[in-house]
Amino acid sequence: MLRRCFAIDRDKPTSYLTDMAIRPIFETPDPVLRQISKPVEVFDDALKALIADMFETMYHAPGIGLAAVQVGEPIRLLVMDLQEPEDPEDEKSPPVKEPRVFINPEIVWHSEMEIPYTEGCLSVPDQYAEVMRPEKIRAKWQDADGKGYEEDMDGLLAVCLQHEMDHLEGVLFIDHLSRLKREMVLKKLAKVRKERGLKAA
Ligand code: NI
Repeated sequence: MLRRCFAIDRDKPTSYLTDMAIRPIFETPDPVLRQISKPVEVFDDALKALIADMFETMYHAPGIGLAAVQVGEPIRLLVMDLQEPEDPEDEKSPPVKEPRVFINPEIVWHSEMEIPYTEGCLSVPDQYAEVMRPEKIRAKWQDADGKGYEEDMDGLLAVCLQHEMDHLEGVLFIDHLSRLKREMVLKKLAKVRKERGLKAA
């Protein structure tokens, strides 16, 4: 798992990649996750080091997206790699590596049409539930050097970006569920944690 992280920037090795670290991921109901993240204003080496840590943490988890606030840094920074199979017809084909960084992301347009998608979250471990979100979005953001981008998105990319952007507002996917459904998910989470605790003891 750790090796895969080094592979992402293999073509342009830089010093900050040498001491990446897996950071602990905060989990619900930790109030850390409820903070509103602040805009990134300085695009320096410390930011790049955090991004490297976040990729390593995300791949190790493993997950396809991570917001900085999930590792305790309430700034408007997300990393994503959908790692979709090379052959869409074959789930077992090797995942395509496409690491992406989104800084100060904004949704400038979204479709009226919403679609359901079964979401999970590294801060709500092992729990999944269907969430409705706009099917298509147009997003703008900056990269690690502060360069601006704008792109139309749909499919998993649109879902994942909207999920990660919720984290910047202190929102978790379970907040989109009905109260009954949310309580079911949290009950299951408590049960999993209890079982894990017993195993570890
Ligand atoms: Ni999440």
